[in-house]
Parts: sequence; structure tokens; C-alpha cells
Amino acid sequence: MRKHKQAGLYSLNRDWRFIEERIPVIPKGISHDEVYGYSKAGSAKGPAAADFDDEDWERVNLPHDWLVKKPYAEDAIMSAGYKHRGCGWYRKKFQLEEQDRGKQLLLEFEGLSSESAVYVNGMLLKRSSSGYNSFCIDMTDVANYGIVPNQLSVWIDASQWEGWWYEGAGIYRNVWLIKKPQAHVTYHGVFARTRRLTEGAELDASRVNSQMDPWELLLDTELENCPGGSCSGILKHVLYDEKGQVTAQTEQEFRLDGYAVCTLQCSLPVLNPRLWDTAHPHLYTLRTSCITEQGEDRIETEVGFRTIALTPDRGFFLNGNAVKFKGFCNHQDAAGVGVAVPYSVKEYRIRKLKDLGANAYRSAHNPDPDILTICDRLGMMVMEENRTFSTAEYNLEDVRGIAKNARNHPSVVLYSVFNEEPLQGTEKGGRLAARLRAAIRDVDATRPVTGAMNGGYLEEQGAASVMDAVGINYNPTRYDEFHERFPEVPLIGSETASAFMVRGEYENRPERNVLADYDTECAAWGNTAAEAWKYIEERPFVAGGFVWTGFDYRGEPTPFKWPSIGTCFGTYDSCGFEKNACYIYKALWKPEPMIHISSPWRSNPKEGEVVKVSLITNCEEGELFVNGRSLGRYKAERFTQQNYELPYEGGVLRAVGYNHGNAAAEDVQKSAGEPAQILTELSRDVLYADGADAVVINVTLADEAGTVLEASDARAAFEVKGVKILGVGNGNPVSHEPDFAAERSLFHGRVQLTVQCEEIAESRGSDVKQKPDYVFDAVEVEDMRTEGAEILIRIGELEKTLILPIAVREHPSYIESVNERIVGHWTFYKKLLDEMPEVSAGSEENDMNSFEPVEPAWRPQPEFSGALGKYGHYRTQFDFGAAKQGRKLYFREVLGHAYVYIDGEEIYRREDSFGGEFFAEIPEAVSGEHMLTVVIYNGNAGYPEAGICSPVGYYQ
Ligand code: GAL
Repeated sequence: MRKHKQAGLYSLNRDWRFIEERIPVIPKGISHDEVYGYSKAGSAKGPAAADFDDEDWERVNLPHDWLVKKPYAEDAIMSAGYKHRGCGWYRKKFQLEEQDRGKQLLLEFEGLSSESAVYVNGMLLKRSSSGYNSFCIDMTDVANYGIVPNQLSVWIDASQWEGWWYEGAGIYRNVWLIKKPQAHVTYHGVFARTRRLTEGAELDASRVNSQMDPWELLLDTELENCPGGSCSGILKHVLYDEKGQVTAQTEQEFRLDGYAVCTLQCSLPVLNPRLWDTAHPHLYTLRTSCITEQGEDRIETEVGFRTIALTPDRGFFLNGNAVKFKGFCNHQDAAGVGVAVPYSVKEYRIRKLKDLGANAYRSAHNPDPDILTICDRLGMMVMEENRTFSTAEYNLEDVRGIAKNARNHPSVVLYSVFNEEPLQGTEKGGRLAARLRAAIRDVDATRPVTGAMNGGYLEEQGAASVMDAVGINYNPTRYDEFHERFPEVPLIGSETASAFMVRGEYENRPERNVLADYDTECAAWGNTAAEAWKYIEERPFVAGGFVWTGFDYRGEPTPFKWPSIGTCFGTYDSCGFEKNACYIYKALWKPEPMIHISSPWRSNPKEGEVVKVSLITNCEEGELFVNGRSLGRYKAERFTQQNYELPYEGGVLRAVGYNHGNAAAEDVQKSAGEPAQILTELSRDVLYADGADAVVINVTLADEAGTVLEASDARAAFEVKGVKILGVGNGNPVSHEPDFAAERSLFHGRVQLTVQCEEIAESRGSDVKQKPDYVFDAVEVEDMRTEGAEILIRIGELEKTLILPIAVREHPSYIESVNERIVGHWTFYKKLLDEMPEVSAGSEENDMNSFEPVEPAWRPQPEFSGALGKYGHYRTQFDFGAAKQGRKLYFREVLGHAYVYIDGEEIYRREDSFGGEFFAEIPEAVSGEHMLTVVIYNGNAGYPEAGICSPVGYYQ
């Protein structure tokens, strides 16, 4: 889970009810009563209503992508990965403490796919049209406290598409509840900018005096007072370095009227900070406290001291040094889990990109808040992209939200407001781009704003004319043309390559939707990996490039169709298993000498069959040996591989790379022997038991010597104890095997499973409820490690048991779900009666006034006060759900004698006391909606008060 540092933060990821079904929120009938009732606040019906029966729905935890479990279907949309999407509901019922009254209560949704509507207690609080943008809603005014639960209902419509790739379906990122004191910092309300004071240092690091490098931290903090009267307090900022030492601090006083908002500005001097860069991503921590008599709101923001500059002639500069973007574009899905990717899996994948020498990430074609945190910490620069090219008010609001979330992240160095829009070269496109750019700069004017264009960049009136930089997708031959025409405009290769490779394949076999793993194939509009980078490397004015893509992804199975369900654009496959393209980037992007053999040797072709062997190196010379025989040294070319056509002979290939005549790198590839062992490699050697962390387990079938059996597609079966399997994958873009399973075929000798552990803190005796709700750091608690989970892997006759250590660490507490249904929408007859009323009589149609709406609260019904000997008449329509034994209504506190009826039939009476609780049993046959009536008699002369004095519960 992302280290989300905010006081009063709780996770709502646990125990939701889910159904994939279109269920309306309007009443079943359209009588005047129903229409009138539905038109009122908090009266949405169906799954939006608190008393809706969701007993039979599936129980799920978030993040959740319901498409993962669905089968592939040839008649579904190819671009979306051949899965039928649809619509669904999620419901979660939870309680708030009585002490939460007076606080601001926010719900943060990091991402839902696709269109959504969020209801709290029957009230529509948000409609979102984006499957990618995060949003936060304020539920304070409609909250219930104490035993009356809050019904959070989320409607998802994923029947359409927003992109031309796999978009998943469901609440696929985190949901948080944030409780803030009355006066607080607003959501994303801290803006921390770092500024280096040495003139001209953004373009020239040598101007900086290493003894005296002054910076300032500029802070804008938005405060809000809501709800309530005016208050005053102190806003405090403390900046800590990585060791926790105070680097700078400041305090300001403020006064705010009720519901008022203000922004306080200040600047903190910082001398000689340790800089953030891609090799050493040093981060400071800014702790902001807003302190008033009502409490303290605390937020932590990670801060990186760094400068950026984008020039039209010399490319991009980080901290005054020229750096080219060695970037990868990526979609968000991963093997096994679809788009519901745990934070630790995202982190694992970004580490894999860094392994190749990458320093940049294009979040294509949408934002994801986790990615920014990960890139801050790992040292990756980010091009943060908006999906929808529209200036409709809702989208401008979303775009401001993207910038608000991104602006404190040192990793973010560029915004992109569109990708390949047909309007990009038109005057209209220019207007749209300019307005979107302005929306971003309104929130954050510290980064350039660009767009990724597939044409129209030479148009004087188009989007290119209003952006801070132009991104050209593909067509590298146009870089020069653009630069000549617009020498003043910075240029980025926003999308490059689109090369095709399938891991472990050494021949193009289009009839089987397979292309070889040699970097020879690419899309008609693209280039091979090496070719694409050549154009960028050779042009200082091109700020760098973003390769399409780092990983294979679902959908868009270019250049094939069914049965392919995913792409082969990836440098890694969808599991993160290396294709040979990885070595091309290592050779081009990393300084360490390397040589790599791409060949089918490990899949044992027929003896004598002529096969291709290709060497990738960044050394000056290379040499290939076949079973010890040299094929001669060759002079290596930077952008070309050395290729051989050789008759296969079982044994050993060895390649040596030489610099200055000396061996500097080596690679060895052997023919595979018999299956002898199962090798495993883990994304991390410990799994945290917090219900959110996940570990990726890569499984390889190998011979005695450890050589992968690349020809094997044997079946692997998994049995786990102490963890659950989130998903399985093998990287084959043609595989239709289920991802949610305990088995999977190998693809060229490899397979992957991702496991997760439920939170075990409770069972280990520690009290989760007492854990701090404010997580300053994800501290490992070493001594709480358990024996570990057991993962048994079986392939054919072979077996391996893996022990995965489980550890506990702090994390925000989960808000558990409750089942309690509260009977709502009570009405009370307008006057008290001298005699027992006729309870079976209904109301006249259209009569909204004989019975008045009342809400049983923690007090007697005011009408009864002092009215001794009188009867009062309550009623409501209630859905009892399916017929069942043992159901009860629970009246916690009723004053007076009580008579309870369903459709005029008495089910309970109490005449032996004037107060206290009681249960009324529901007859077994009662099902569906009925009139529930309660008559109360005020007969206690010593205390002449009466009424239903507390919320009425329903237990099934
Ligand atoms: C681009 C597009 C990407 C992807 C890619 C495939 O045109 O921006 O989203 O479709 O082509 O090559």
C-alpha cells in the first residue's frame, strides 16, 4: 500500500459486496407516492438505499477488477482484450464514531473503471466520467454516527470504452476515508515548490558553488474551516531530512470563518540540500500541521530538491546536467491481476524498467497516483498524462485534479494533455490544448505541458503552437523537419519503437500469431528498438524518447487478432519476463560493458537445423564460440546486432565482448537437458501481512545445470498455505487460460503467480483498532515475523515448496464492514390519538401530509411530551428480503407500550413495561416490501414521555 501520510486516514478497501448487474436507483413503481418520495434527498432506491438486500452478492476486497475472472470471447472488442465489460454495483456499510461529529469526512477514490456514481446514504454525491482520474468527495453533511451505519454504494458503468486497450472494470484502486478536524488543510491543499537560488544553474550545474548552494522551499497551504463557526489556529511546517533531522521550520497564525477557505504562503530557506535525481532520489519530508482547539490535522509531503529545464536545442536538463529521457510508456494492467495492481507489483515493474537503464516513465495514457510515489522513491522521471482531450467543465476539473496530485512529486517533469488527437493540428485543437494547458498551469506552473502528436505538428494554428514542448509519436524522420521549422520549440520522442517480439520465439510464425524475439519486427508506423533510439541519441535537440512499451499489455493485440488477446510491443512480457529487447536497452542505455546471446539454444531445435544467433553488445568487439570454436572476432556497431545463421548443435554458445582488446563481458547459453528442478525468484523476500502487499513469484523449469527448458509448456499447479493467490500468468499473448486459478501452463519454461496475505495482526494478538491512524512510516516489525507461508509448486513429477516469510508493518487501519440494516423512512401520524388507531388502513393516494417524516433519534418523540394516555402511530415501507426463519427487528429503546404490525397483522406487543429494548420476530413467510407499523402508548404517569427513541435494526 502506498505510504499515504495523512492524519485520520483509514482504508475502505476491505469487505465490499459486489454484483455485475444493472439495477436501477429509481423506485419500482411510479405512483405519486413513489415519485414524490424518490424526489427527496437521500431517497435513491435499489443498491443506493441503505436497506437494500445484498446478502447474496459476492464479497470482494479492493483493488478489484471484475473482468479478470471473465472468459475471453471472440465477439467482444478486440482493443479491450476480447472481454465483455458491463455494469456493476459495489456496496459497503460502515460505522462512524459518535466522536466523529464535527469532523470533515472525505472519501477518496483513486480510480474506478469506468463511469461511476457514488451514493452515500441514498444521496448521490458524485458522478465521474473518467476511468482514470482520482476524486475526493465530502460526505460530512450526510454522515450517520454511532450504530446507524453509512451505506456507501458505487455504481460502475464499464459498458463503453474510454481507450483502445484493456481498461478493466470495477473499483480497481484504493478507497480511503479521511477524517479531518473542523479546521484543516484541504485535500491536496499543500503545494511545495523547491527553488534553487543560483542564477542559471538549471542549465549549467557548474555555476553552483558546492560549499554554498542556497535553495528555498515555497509553500502554499490551503486551509478550510468546515463545518462550524469561526476559529483561529496555527499552521506549522517542519522539513525533515532523510535522517529525520529538522532542516527548516516555520509557523503562521490564521483565523477562518465558518466554511471559509484561505491560502497561506511562506518560504523556508534551505542550504545545500541533497538533491533528487534518478541515481540518488533523495527525499525530504515536510510535515504540515494545522492546529486549532478542535484538533490537529497533519499531512506529510515528500519533497525533492531538483531543477528541470527543457530546451529546444539541447534537450532536457536535470539539476543543470543534460539528461535524455530513456523512457518507457506503459498501460496499467499486469499479469494475473488485470488493472487491480497492488502497489508492490507496480513497484516491482518499475524496478525492472530501471534495471534496463531507464530513467523515465510515461503514464500512458492516463494518470495513476501510485506511479508517482514509486517514481519519486526509485528515481524515475514521469510524463504525467491526461486521458480525455476535452475542455468540458468536468474534464477541466479532473485535469486540475491531476496536476494537484502531481505537483509535489519531484518525479513529475512533464505533463501531457493529449495523445494522438485528430484535432491536434487544427485551430480547434489549438484552443482545446491551450485551455487544458492553462488549467494545469493554474494549479502548477513549474512543469512544461506537452501533447503526444501523430501529425499536425507543423500546423501554425494547431496544438503544437500553444504547448511548451511538442511530443512526436513515431516518425523519427520528422524530428529534423520539425526542428528546422520550429527551432524554438523543445521536442520529445513521446512514443517510439512499437517493436514486436514474443518471448522465447525464434521464428516468425504469423499463422500462429507469433513473431520472433530478435528485434527485427515492428509496426508499420514504428521502428525496431535499436533503430528508434538511434534517431534520438544522434540528435541533441531531441529531449529523449518513450518506448512503446515497457511491458506487454492486454488488448490491442497488434498486428494480430483473435486468438491473440494481448500485445507483443513490450520490452518485457506481461509478467515482466525478459525478452531479448531488454538487452538492447541495457546495451544502449547502461554504461556497464555487456554482451547477450539471442538464440533458440535453450529450446533444443533439431540437430543440424539452421537457426539464427544474434549478439547484442555495447563493447567495441565481440566474439561467438560454438562448443568452444570461435567464429571470429567482429567489430561491433552500436545500433546493429551481429547475426549468424548456424546449424544447431547441442552444447554451449559463449559470447565474449572486448574493450581495448580485453575481455569485458561474457554470456553463455546452453542446450537444455532433462527437467530437473523448479527455480523460483521473488519480487521481494518477505510479504507483509497487511492485506494490501503482494509478492510476485517467478517460476522457471530448469535442468540440472539451471538452464531454462524453453521448449516446455508443461502445467504448473500451486498449493498455498498462509497466503492467497491473486492471479497467475505466463506472458503468452495468445493464452486464454484463466488468470484467477491455482494452475497455469508454462510459456517457454516460465510461469508466474502473485500472492497476498490477509492482515494477521489480530490473530497475532495485537489490537488493530488501537493502531495509530497516522502512519509516518511503514515500519517493519522484524520480531513479528511468522514461520512464513508455504507455496507448493508442482510441475510434472517435480515439486518445490517455497517458504515465504511473512512480516507485519504499520499501515492505515481498515474500516470493517457491518451488516446491520436500519429501518428507515419512518413517518408519524400528524396528531396523537385517544384510542388505538386502525392500523390496517392505508393512506389516501397523494397524501403526503397526514403522516410526517420522522427519524427515530436518541430521544423521545417530542409530540408525546406530557401527553399521558395518548397513542402515536408510526409506519414505514420496508423490504424484508427473502422469506426466512429467525429474522428480527431490534428496537433498542422504546418508551411507552409498543405494538408492532406488518400489513396490519400484529407481530409483537409489549405492555409489561414502559421502556427499554425489545426484539420483534418476523414471521417466516414474510418477504419483500411491506407496511411496518408501530403504535406507541404513552402511559407512564411518572415519566410521561414516549416514542421510538432509537434507530430500529433488522437482523436476518
Ligand atoms: C499509438 C498509440 C498507442 C498505441 C500504439 C501502438 O498510436 O498512441 O496507444 O496504440 O500506437 O503502436
